Amino acid sequence: MSGGQPASASSETLVLGIETSCDETAAAVVVRDGSGRGRVLGNVVRSQWDQHRAYGGVVPEIAARAHVECLDDLIAAAMGEAGIGFDRLDAVAATAGPGLVGGLIVGLVTGKAIALAHGKPLVAVNHLEAHALTVGLTDGIDPPYLLLLVSGGHTQTLVVHGVGRYERLGTTIDDALGEAFDKTAKLLGLGFPGGPAVEAMARRGRAGRFSLPRPMLGRAEPHFSFAGLKTAVRHQALALQPLTDADVADLCADFEAAVASSVRDRVARSIDLAEPLLPPGSARHLVVAGGVAANQHLRATLAALATERGFDLVAPPISLCGDNAAMIAWAGASRLAHGLTDGLDAPVRPRWPLDATAAPAIGAGVKA
Ligand code: KG4
Ligand code: ZN
Repeated sequence: MSGGQPASASSETLVLGIETSCDETAAAVVVRDGSGRGRVLGNVVRSQWDQHRAYGGVVPEIAARAHVECLDDLIAAAMGEAGIGFDRLDAVAATAGPGLVGGLIVGLVTGKAIALAHGKPLVAVNHLEAHALTVGLTDGIDPPYLLLLVSGGHTQTLVVHGVGRYERLGTTIDDALGEAFDKTAKLLGLGFPGGPAVEAMARRGRAGRFSLPRPMLGRAEPHFSFAGLKTAVRHQALALQPLTDADVADLCADFEAAVASSVRDRVARSIDLAEPLLPPGSARHLVVAGGVAANQHLRATLAALATERGFDLVAPPISLCGDNAAMIAWAGASRLAHGLTDGLDAPVRPRWPLDATAAPAIGAGVKA
C-alpha cells in the first residue's frame, strides 16, 4: 500500500514503524490527526517465507539475519513512499516483543539508532497491542471493544478498555489457532505458511465427510484448544493413505468447519463475560485481528455471531491482518498521543502478555 500527501497540520503526528518480530520485515509511516484518525503514508513488507520454506517453519537465526539484510532498505522505501525525511517524524516506533529475540533486537536497535540520531522519541511497541489497535487506523473504531486476537503465536479474547488497558478473558490451553493451521498444512503436505494454503484447499473441498472434534464446545470458561483437532486430522490423514487431492480438500474443509464452530462457541462465551465489562449503552464491537483474521470462513462465522448478539464485526483489510509495520506505527502514534514513550534502554521482551494479571488457563503451557 502506498501513501498520499505528507501531513502538514501541526496537530498531526508522523510516526515511523518498524516490525521484525517474526518472519516479515516491515517498515511504514502513518499520520495521526488531531481527532485521533489515521492514514498510511508509506507501507512496505518483505516476507521471508522463501528462506524458511525448506525447513517447514521459521528458523530464528535465518529470520534475524534476513531482517538485518533488508531492514534499512525497507525503511528508506517507506520513508520514500511517504515523501518525508527523518527530520519530519514525531516519533519512531519499533516492535519490542513478543517474538523471536534475534529479530526483535534488529528492529528495536535500528529504531533506537534513528531516534537517537534525529532526536525523536522512541516507542517500544507490543506487537499484540499493535494488532489490537489496528481497527483504529483502518476503520476508525476506538476502544472499548471485545477483541479476538488470532495469530501464529496467540489466540485470545480480550476486552480492550483503552490504549495500554487490556483485560484477557480467554486464551488457548495448547496450540494457537495459526499454529494449528500451519501444523495441519504441514501434515497434509501443503507447505508453509499453512493458513492461506489450508483455506485455498478448503474452498475446493466439501465439509461433512469426516467427523472432527469441536474442542471445548459448551465449556463455561472461555478458553480455546486446538491440539486435539490437529491430531484428529492427522489420524484421518493416516487412515486414508495415500491421500488424493480430493481427500486433502475435504479434510481442510472439515478442519475449517470444526475451527469455525469451536471459535464461534468460545467467542460467544466471551461475549457473555464481556457484556458487564463494557459501558452500558455503548456501541458493541467485536474486533478480530491477527494473521488468522484473514480467513474468510472464520470472518463469516464471526459476522453471523456478532449480528445475533447485537455486535458489529470489525475486521481490518486482509493486507493489514498479517504482520505489518503500519500497525506498529499506529500503535506508536496512539501511545505517543497518551504521552507513553520509552527510553533508549527499553529492552526486547520475547514474552510480553497484554494483560500481565491474567491467570494462566488450566492446562496452558507458557503461552499467555
Ligand atoms: O499475525 P501473524 O501474521 O503473525 C504472528 O504474529 O503470528 O499471523 C500468522 C498466522 C500464521 O499461522 C498463518 O498461517 C495464519 O496467521 N494465517 C491464516 C490465514 N492467513 C494467515 N490462517 C488461516 N487462514 C488464512 N487465510
Ligand atoms: Zn502478528
